[in-house]
Amino acid sequence: MTKRISIGAIHPRRDFLRMALASPCLWALANCDLGLAEDVDPNLVEPTAEEAEAAISAMIRTSATDVSSERLDAAHTLQRSVDRLRASEFGDYFKSSPEEAARWENERAILRYLNASFDKALGEIRETKAEENTVVFWHLYNMGYVVKTPTQTIAVDIKHRRASELIPFVDYLLVTHNHGDHFTTSFCDAMTAAGKPVVSNFIKNDWLVEEDEREIEIGDSRIRLKRVDHNKTLIKYVTTFEIDCGPKTDHFVVYHVGDACDVSQLTPKAPVDVFIPHLAVGLDVPKAVNETIKPKQTFLSHILELGHLIDKWRWSYDYGYNQVKRCANDSVILPVWGEKIVCSRG
Ligand SMILES: [Fe+2]
Ligand SMILES: [Fe+2]
Repeated sequence: MTKRISIGAIHPRRDFLRMALASPCLWALANCDLGLAEDVDPNLVEPTAEEAEAAISAMIRTSATDVSSERLDAAHTLQRSVDRLRASEFGDYFKSSPEEAARWENERAILRYLNASFDKALGEIRETKAEENTVVFWHLYNMGYVVKTPTQTIAVDIKHRRASELIPFVDYLLVTHNHGDHFTTSFCDAMTAAGKPVVSNFIKNDWLVEEDEREIEIGDSRIRLKRVDHNKTLIKYVTTFEIDCGPKTDHFVVYHVGDACDVSQLTPKAPVDVFIPHLAVGLDVPKAVNETIKPKQTFLSHILELGHLIDKWRWSYDYGYNQVKRCANDSVILPVWGEKIVCSRG
């Protein structure tokens, strides 16, 4: 579990965040770097370079479909680094030059992992050819995925300081909602400048979809969009994407629902092959998995959101793995950054 940092009962940042939950405007502000101090446990020790390398290599070598003690140990090692990295420091890293970023990555194991996992995924995205009736996924960060079919490469909810390196290999981008852990303006602008569709419910471009429900086509993809609630305040704030990946995949369906919170609003038209939900936004994932949507496979997502405060909504690997177990369904997995998952139809 994420280490809970004990802070005083009266805490202005906490009060602010409590208010932020109830207000879209304040929520947006809460995602900004406010320059507020963030408490770090002084007894926590950053993994050594050797420990970091071993943990990163174990994360890359092991699989979400067979969670071993090696993966759990590696996640625990990296968690020490997660619990030492302030959200404001992650913000600084995110904006930094390549030279400054390399320095951060040298000093912080979790940032070294973030970068190394991107190298791994990018190399594989470049080299991998999806066979007929096969769809290949890479998990990048938070709820960000790259999905490769025999005919297209799709990006969803990408937030990464190196995202622009994906542009030559990606055909279009889907963004579920206007929260800073699901997109960056720079990547969206660069995709648009490269002539590639960026579909969202808030970016003012040719692909803006503001309706409650709509269906669009991009190449072989047929995408059903539906707006749903994020929480009790942010009504119809999230656009879910039901992607039919086309005839070369035997119409494989990917259902990415971003930060959707209400299972009764998730109503895909076709049977779902891969379901991608948030693990802790209030969505009843066990019900969705076992009773309503019944997907063939579920990729539980949104762990280790480093832009969130250390003790606030930064769900650990252990938290995620416990959520997987709560689903009591072998088809539910918890991918880690850089993980490649190959799915075949039939
Ligand atoms: Fe969100
Ligand atoms: Fe989110």
